[in-house]
Amino acid sequence: MPMQVELFEVGPRDGLQNEPREIPVADKVALVDLLSRAGFSRIECASFVSPKWVPQMAGSAEVLAGITRAPGVRYAALTPNMRGLTDALAAGADEVAVFGSASEGFSRANINASIAESLARFAPVVEAARDAAVPVRGYVSCVVECPYDGPVAPGQVADVAGKLHEMGCYEVSLGDTIGKGVPETISAMLEAVTAAVPAAQLAGHYHDTNGRALDNIAASLDHGLRVFDTAVGGLGGCPYAPGAAGNVATEAVLAMLHARGIETGLDLEIIQEAAALARRLRAGEETDDDI
Ligand code: HMG
Ligand code: MG
Repeated sequence: MPMQVELFEVGPRDGLQNEPREIPVADKVALVDLLSRAGFSRIECASFVSPKWVPQMAGSAEVLAGITRAPGVRYAALTPNMRGLTDALAAGADEVAVFGSASEGFSRANINASIAESLARFAPVVEAARDAAVPVRGYVSCVVECPYDGPVAPGQVADVAGKLHEMGCYEVSLGDTIGKGVPETISAMLEAVTAAVPAAQLAGHYHDTNGRALDNIAASLDHGLRVFDTAVGGLGGCPYAPGAAGNVATEAVLAMLHARGIETGLDLEIIQEAAALARRLRAGEETDDDI
């Protein structure tokens, strides 16, 4: 049987959160609705964070209210604290995510907490989400290098990933936030992390700053990972990670996987249409009425 890989589309959240221009809710909804037809099981399209920290995500509840939900698709949201979880559940998010870091510098810059404080903050969020029967994903940022602290030890990534897993996150997504990873460093990191969390419950979340994300995905496949976070059009960046480029482009990953005979269940034509829309949103052009 051919290998199956799932791409978790994060463009409407990770992709758009860093855009300086305020993108209208209707445009975000149009992007999500297009992505909903492409065959994804999970699309991250909202983030219930402080609007002072990330103004672009302020309309997240409106986005969730405005989309046309496709059967079988889970619409996901970031929830850094209880306030975020309450708002996400009220807005109808199908799954939520807590997001921590393997490095202290980024943890402080991104969520204003040490790693230990953030884990203590996430525990009740995970518990309350589980009580509401809403699956919780966990992110670990800076799995290779931190923009503030420099290289990050694989053991540190394994420690944080293991704690999120133990807490009840059904999957832990490993973020090469500033795209400094190469297959050797990604492999060393995965060697350590897979000793703490089964590969089947891990995802690779690779930004493509240095153009190595596809190589890093190939290396991750060798370590048993079968889920990767991607963004149509290579959208993205993180407001608290200076120099971070976009997420690896969904269409590029799709082409690479299909060339290897790996199945994703995704429709390349719709993905390309969505990538074109994503590029137009980034360029600040209005969307067409017929999208
Ligand atoms: P804080 O300032 O320490 O928290 O921020 P606070 O509790 O003192 O609250 C400050 C203000 O924010 C208050 O409002 C709160 O009500 C409000 P004020 O009284 O000043 O008017 N507030 C909220 N508002 C809306 N929704 C909430 C919420 N919580 C508090 N949930 C906090 C702490 C975590 C809130 C803040 O640091 C924050 O929002 N950070 C988010 C940063 C972020 O979203 N970064 C990007 C996502 S992570 C990422 O992109 C990486 C990833 O892709 C993986 C990778 O690539 O590595 C996932
Ligand atoms: Mg990211």
